[in-house]
Parts: sequence; C-alpha cells; structure tokens
Amino acid sequence: MINQIDYTYKDRVWCGKINEKYVNKEVKIYGWVHRFRDMGGILFVDLRDRTGIVQVVMSSELKINKLSLEDVLEVVGIVKERPIENINPNIATGNFEVIAKEIKILSKSEALPFMINEDYKDIRDLKIDEATRLKYRYLDLRRLQMFKNMYFRHKIIKYIRDFMDNEDFLEIETPLLAKPTPEGARDFLVPSRLQPGKFYALPQSPQLFKQILMVAGIDRYFQIAKCLRDEDLRADRQPEFTQVDIEMSFISKKDIFLLIENLLDYVLNNLGIEISIPFEVIDYNYAIKHFNSDKPDLRFNYPVKKWNNSIKINLNDEDFDINQAYYIFFKNLVLTRKELDKLNEFLRQNNLKFLYLISSNSGESFFKGSLVKFVDINEVDNYLRNENQFYNGDYIVFVISSKNYLNELILIKNYLIENKVLKPVKDFYFLWVDNFPLFKVEEEKVGNKLIRKISPEHHPFTNVLEEDKDKVYMIYEKLKKNPNIIYDDEFVKEVLSIRSLAYDLVLNGVEIASGSIRITDIKFQKIIFEIIGINEEDANRKFGFLLEAFKYGVPPHGGIALGIDRIIALLLGYNSIREVIAFPKTQSGTCLLTKAPSEVDLSQLKELGIKLMEVN
Ligand code: AMO
Repeated sequence: MINQIDYTYKDRVWCGKINEKYVNKEVKIYGWVHRFRDMGGILFVDLRDRTGIVQVVMSSELKINKLSLEDVLEVVGIVKERPIENINPNIATGNFEVIAKEIKILSKSEALPFMINEDYKDIRDLKIDEATRLKYRYLDLRRLQMFKNMYFRHKIIKYIRDFMDNEDFLEIETPLLAKPTPEGARDFLVPSRLQPGKFYALPQSPQLFKQILMVAGIDRYFQIAKCLRDEDLRADRQPEFTQVDIEMSFISKKDIFLLIENLLDYVLNNLGIEISIPFEVIDYNYAIKHFNSDKPDLRFNYPVKKWNNSIKINLNDEDFDINQAYYIFFKNLVLTRKELDKLNEFLRQNNLKFLYLISSNSGESFFKGSLVKFVDINEVDNYLRNENQFYNGDYIVFVISSKNYLNELILIKNYLIENKVLKPVKDFYFLWVDNFPLFKVEEEKVGNKLIRKISPEHHPFTNVLEEDKDKVYMIYEKLKKNPNIIYDDEFVKEVLSIRSLAYDLVLNGVEIASGSIRITDIKFQKIIFEIIGINEEDANRKFGFLLEAFKYGVPPHGGIALGIDRIIALLLGYNSIREVIAFPKTQSGTCLLTKAPSEVDLSQLKELGIKLMEVN
C-alpha cells in the first residue's frame, strides 16, 4: 500500500526536479497525466506538476485502469537513468525516468475542452480563443508557461516587500469600503445595508488614506494595493488591478526617483534582468514637442530629420521636392531579401512614396535601393564616412520622403518595429517624464452646447512647481471675476502652461507609474478645488477629513504608484496584462470563470432599499 512510508509535504519530490541525486532512490511524486504512450503493455506516462514533467514507466503488472489525460496520480517508484537512446533533451528531467512500483489514480479527468499538452513553446501562439481559456482558467493555469507568469509575479512582489522593508517602509492596509477617490474614473459603488440609501465607493487608489498616514506620522508607507476603477477596458487596463502604492514624508521629487530606481534595480537584478540606473529624465513639454507623446518609446529612437542636402539628389519629380524632404537614418539595420520584398509590398499597398538606400561596406560592400540611381555613390560613401562613426562595416538605411513626410516615415518605422526588423537599443527602456501640467482643459457636450472644464492632469492633491505658483493665483482671480474666461483660448493656454510637481515613469512606451509631491497648504488646496469647480461645500463633503487632518501638523510629503500588472506583462513580453493576472476580467468586465457580475435575489435588494430600473 502506498501510504506506508511516512511522507510529509517536506519529503515531496517535484516532478520537474528529479535529477541525479535521486538515481536508484525511491520517490513519491504527484501530478497530472500530461501525455502517455502504450508500448505493448508498458505505459510511458509524462507526469506533470507545476515544476515540470517527468517520465514514469508503468509495467503491465501494475494493472492500472485506463488512463486519461489530466488524471491526477500518486506514484511511488525508483528513479533510473534513461538509456542514452531514450534521453529527451527537451525537458529538464530528460535524462531520468521513474520506474513505478505503486500507482494510485487520485482523480479522473473528463475529456478536456482544450489540450494542455499541445504547446510548450509560447502561449502567445495559442490557437485557443481567450474566452475559452478564461472560462476554464484552472486548466489554462496548469500550463507551465502560465505557472511561470504567476511565479514571476509572486517573486516580484516578494522582492518589492524585501526592499521596502529594508528602506524602513511600513506596509499598511487601507480600507476597501471607502469614499470616492479622485483618480478620474467612475467609482464602483457598494450599497450599505445598515444605512440604506448610502454607498461606499471602492477605492480607485489608496491616495487619501496614504496622505492621512503621513499626517499620522508613519513617514514611509507602502502597500501592494488592489485598486478598482469602472472605466473602459483595454489590453493594459483591468477594472481591478494592483499598485505598489508608496508615500513618503520630508522628501523631494529626487528622493522618489532615487527610491524607485533602486527598487527596480534590486527587484529586477534578483530576477536576472540587468537594467541601468539612474533613468533618463525628460521634460513633459520636450516629450510632446519631439515625440508627440507623454510616454515615448525610446527603444527605437530614430528621429525624423529635415533633409540637409548634404548629398546631391538628381531627381525631377513634382511629387518629390527634395528641398522639402525629410529622412530617417536606420543604423545597423539588416534587411534580408525576404524582409525587403515584404517591405516593398507594404509600401506599395499603402501607396507610400519614398526613396531608400541600403548600404554596407563590410565584406562585399554595396549600395542598393531606389535612391541609388539619383545620387553619386562616391559622394554618399564620403558622406557616411565623415558624418557617421558607425559606418564601420554594417548596414545603414536612408529613407527619404517628401509629401506627408511624417506619416510616411513613421508608418515605415512602425512597420519595421512591428515586424521586429528594427532592433531596440535596449530591451527595457525606462524613462521619467517630469513637470507634467497641473491642469487639463476638457470639452464636454451638454445638450448642444460645448462646456469647457478645468480638471487636474494628475489628481487635485498635486502641488505646483514653485515658479508657476503665481500663475495659479492669477488664473484663480481671473476665473472669479469672469467664469466665462474659460472660453478664451489665450486663457486656456495660460492654464495649460502651469507646471506641476507630477511625474510618470515610462517603460517601453507604456506608463508604468505615476506620482507627485502633494499640496499641504490648506488655503492653496482650496484654491485648486475652486479652479477645478469643486466649491467649498463639495470640498468639505468629499475631502473634508483630509483638510481637517491637515490642520494638526502635516509633514511635506509625496509619493507614487506603480502599476504592477503592466510592469510584469512588459518584462515578460506580453501585450495584455490578462496573461499575468490569475483571474482577469474580459473587455466587458465579466469574470468568465464565475460569471460575475450576476443578478441578485430580490430579497437582497429589498434589504438594501434598492429598486432596479430600466437603463438604456
Ligand atoms: P494613477 O492613476 O496614474 O496614479 O495610477 C498609477 C499606475 O497604475 C497603473 N494603472 C492601471 N493598471 C491596470 N489597469 C488600470 N485600469 C490602471 N489604471 C492605472 C498605471 C499607472 O501609472 N494615486 C495615484 C498615484 C500617486 O499620486 O501616488 C494613482 O493612482 O501603470
């Protein structure tokens, strides 16, 4: 009988961990039937647990009932080295097998809705549709790649906790049944049974509580915090997601930058990922002007430049005014014949008009491309030699275009990035974007009128850059005198020009963290509320407790929150954060496993004093 030897969980041998240490020893393993082959009475079963797969050999003497894929087995057996011809180099335990002495089927599996053993390459290539994977998430999570994602997530969070603890941060949990927090999304509401007609709001972030904790003298707070936002969902947005939420007292912006750089360096190094710190910092205005984005992806930083006529181009084409031309210069871009053909096809299909030149002076040196016949090759060669240190044997590509230059060149660049022809300058490009505007001005249609509204770019507790503080008072005065001044474009420009003490951290073109230094001056806070249309009564109703707390000695403070789902997805190379969340929701906010949200009994609604009405 199997359970004769006294095993505890500490004696558990994992399938994927069988190695030479166990050769000729008895082991007890548990797992799921990943695959099996019947070789004339002898069964070869690949048994899988979360660590990997090992081959179990079962002779017919064991009289096993018919096996199915994903049955759960308990096996006691002796580990043997496999004969050389049977070694399987594709699995970590491929040199060994377990010769079964006793087998117990602990649970049978029915026919599977999709195969689990079909891939061991990459779930990105899976043909199963995501809805089926989410409905049977427990099967999907059995894939070793999904387990790796969960493991990576667990480790990241563990290393974050270790690091923060070392830097004297306290992890403090804040309530889920809370009041609305101003992060700009809709709230999820929870009705109160004890106080019918009243509602809690699930927190969009712990923003207000973490500021209160600073008033409470905690000084350094962090939390692996669930945040809940009722907003339109996308690949990188979930209605509930996780932040590493941080707040610190007696600090400036540069302390937050230093802390986060060291945190990420520590965590990623522990996971075998090298990054270089400090991260680059660019100004918000610079980012918008040069990259047309507040989260530029500088991995592929090939700027579009005005053609400076350094090389004469003899071209007579009215579509192509060379004096108006722009170009991109791709260094070290190696295009295979096939890639070049595909690129040409893409350009033809999109009706893109441009000239290009590919050159190499390594090995067999050459110049090719549509530009060649319009230039003097010696001149090009000289130009490249004089102007570009990297012209040392590798390929370079010029792409020149005139009309609609930006669109065309950016389309080409994006095509090359998507097709992985362009190589990133580094795998993980972190970048601080600093000095965000304090306000944004939004237009909203009410009836058939366009209403303009000032709202905070980050959130209303974000402080202003000292140099721009006077401007805040100025626009406050102007608005007080004449609220309609908001329709004056010059005024709007002034509003938008006010810089804040808010910053974002961007990784490969995705916003992964956001934070600011906060307002601690109650008077100034009230002015900000007024400007964004929250009058004194509203302010007291919504945030009165914070203003009240600030009356009793508030330390200067600031913080940041990192979107942990996004960071993990980017590090593992996924486009969708759903791949790194155990039980994510669909685009329409449904959990396909549990079918939440669902209807509730009328009696429950009655208790809450709620009556449903038709919503269109
Ligand atoms: P913010 O609202 O910018 O800041 O959020 C911080 C970071 O959280 C991530 N994030 C999301 N991730 C997945 N799904 C979502 N729906 C989602 N929304 C946001 C992003 C973002 O950068 N209280 C402030 C922080 C502070 O000021 O300290 C806040 O929540 O990566």
